[in-house]
Amino acid sequence: MASNKAGFSVRGLREWLESPVADGATAGRTRLNTLRGAAARITTPLLPDDYLHLVNPLWSARELRGRIVEVRKETADSATLVIKPGWGFDFKFEPGQYIGIGLLVDGRWHWRSYSLTCPPDWSHPEHRGKRLISIAVKAMPEGFLSSHMVSGVQAGTVVRLAAPQGGFVLPEPPPSKVLFLTAGSGITPVMAMLRTMDRRGVVPDVTHLHSARTADDVMFAADLRELHDKHPSFTADLHFTGEHGKFALADLDERVPDWRERETWACGPAAMLDEIEKHWAAAGIADKVHVERFEIERSASGEGGTVTFAKAGRVVEVDGATTLLQAGEGVGVQMPFGCRMGICQTCVVTVTDGHVRDLRNGTEHRAGDKVQTCISAAAGDCTLDV
Ligand SMILES: Cc1cc2nc3c(=O)[nH]c(=O)nc-3n(C[C@H](O)[C@H](O)[C@H](O)COP(=O)(O)OP(=O)(O)OC[C@H]3O[C@@H](n4cnc5c(N)ncnc54)[C@H](O)[C@@H]3O)c2cc1C
Ligand code: FES
Repeated sequence: MASNKAGFSVRGLREWLESPVADGATAGRTRLNTLRGAAARITTPLLPDDYLHLVNPLWSARELRGRIVEVRKETADSATLVIKPGWGFDFKFEPGQYIGIGLLVDGRWHWRSYSLTCPPDWSHPEHRGKRLISIAVKAMPEGFLSSHMVSGVQAGTVVRLAAPQGGFVLPEPPPSKVLFLTAGSGITPVMAMLRTMDRRGVVPDVTHLHSARTADDVMFAADLRELHDKHPSFTADLHFTGEHGKFALADLDERVPDWRERETWACGPAAMLDEIEKHWAAAGIADKVHVERFEIERSASGEGGTVTFAKAGRVVEVDGATTLLQAGEGVGVQMPFGCRMGICQTCVVTVTDGHVRDLRNGTEHRAGDKVQTCISAAAGDCTLDV
């Protein structure tokens, strides 16, 4: 933040402009930030984003942006991305929440969701104490963006961001007995929770059971070991599926005998989460387990059609697998979105003509219905109220 005493040094002005509009630590600062936000908005289009962008790519009054400042390998197929957000980013997110990130690849913006792996209000001395965020990405074998983020993207790349959100969060104060059940990249939101508890110096009785194929595939292995050694109340229990097969929930009684008493957070492959939900329901404690899903089952397919985005005045021809969200973004429509996985409802729009198919189960929606564009595709020609 630029010092009021420092006058208008270039660095001070730059830091002030890059700090969040909504940061309300002091009344004076709030007034200044409100003024800055208002000025940025009022002067648009006389002071358009394109002009600000020339001065600094992170300066935008219209959208959240960030710059990747570090790409650090976690395992052979995963990497942590440290990002310095620009104007307007809310650093007071809750541990466990995710962000949207947009990358420009071959001239098109591609968006995905990633859990934050850092605590709120995080900074790092290596980056001159600036407030940062981090995510960790595991490359999916046939995935488009994750492979690029693990092996292609460079420090310095400017990205678009969507604000932190999601209900898979650690309460403050945390419960007295906690169980984390994770597998693969499902460790990411739990890492933010563990780091937050560690930073606050309040680590209750926590058992973390994490599955990975081999020891070399464990993301954040060094951090887990450090936390395990530092906090006697924290147990990191690793399960290697390459050696012992999939972790059987029946073994919980032996491995974590008091699992029924623990508030549980679980994140990993869909099949594992389905089993966990059933297991907890069978024990009559379904309300004690919180689940975060990174993927959706797409079991339905069919013919596509021509999608008309009525308010934007855009039209596009798509196949039956392309989501309406992707279709709109592909032709430059400002589509609302959050998780992009059928969870949050942010992407809901009304169908005004034709039919739309839910890709999870094939349910067809017609004119007048509200649909989640992130998990729906055209079922013939259709028009959306967006
Ligand atoms: C809330 C949330 C948090 C997340 N957090 C993380 C995280 O911290 N770390 C992480 O690594 N990932 C996370 N993810 C997953 C992430 O958003 C991406 O989905 C993942 O990285 C794959 O992206 P991709 O572009 O590589 O794959 P995509 O190209 O989007 O493909 C994903 C998979 O779906 C298949 N697929 C793609 N299109 C179709 C189609 N039309 N029909 C059928 N199958 C298809 C692909 O073969 C591939 O296996 C999170 C997801 C959510 C919803
Ligand atoms: S973006 Fe979250 S439900 Fe569609």
